Amino acid sequence: MAQYTLNINGKSYQADVDADTPLLWVLRDTLGLVGTKYGCGIAQCGACTVHLNGNAVRSCTLPVSAVRAGKVVTIEGLSEKGDHPVQAAWNEIDVAQCGYCQAGQIMSAAAFLSKNPKPTTEQIDTAMQGNICRCGTYHRIREAVTLAAA
Ligand code: FES
Repeated sequence: MAQYTLNINGKSYQADVDADTPLLWVLRDTLGLVGTKYGCGIAQCGACTVHLNGNAVRSCTLPVSAVRAGKVVTIEGLSEKGDHPVQAAWNEIDVAQCGYCQAGQIMSAAAFLSKNPKPTTEQIDTAMQGNICRCGTYHRIREAVTLAAA
């Protein structure tokens, strides 16, 4: 066990955990930030996506010790009122079916659009292909990311 000071959503958090504890479990179990979801645990589904220094990362396989002084943003911190352009588009298009994957989808889309604000449909599909939706709402995901970029 060691104590880690983490910068999450602009606030400082302390966590006493083992160095190899995945960030996902520190967020959910230690800090109570349960918006980030567990899907596969092996970096294959994207449900656990958060931002680390502005990049989309899979928190299920990222050891807390690797975060260091990096700035983590979770779905809880993406916007103050849930009104990030991607979140607004998500609501507008009514993307979610079961909704389990949407935090990861939104975090992936937000990181992608911050680097590529005017993507083509093909670029959207490529960027989002690592986020799996068990309900198959891919057409609405594409539509929402397109709307957020407009
Ligand atoms: Fe992390 Fe699936 S839970 S990628």
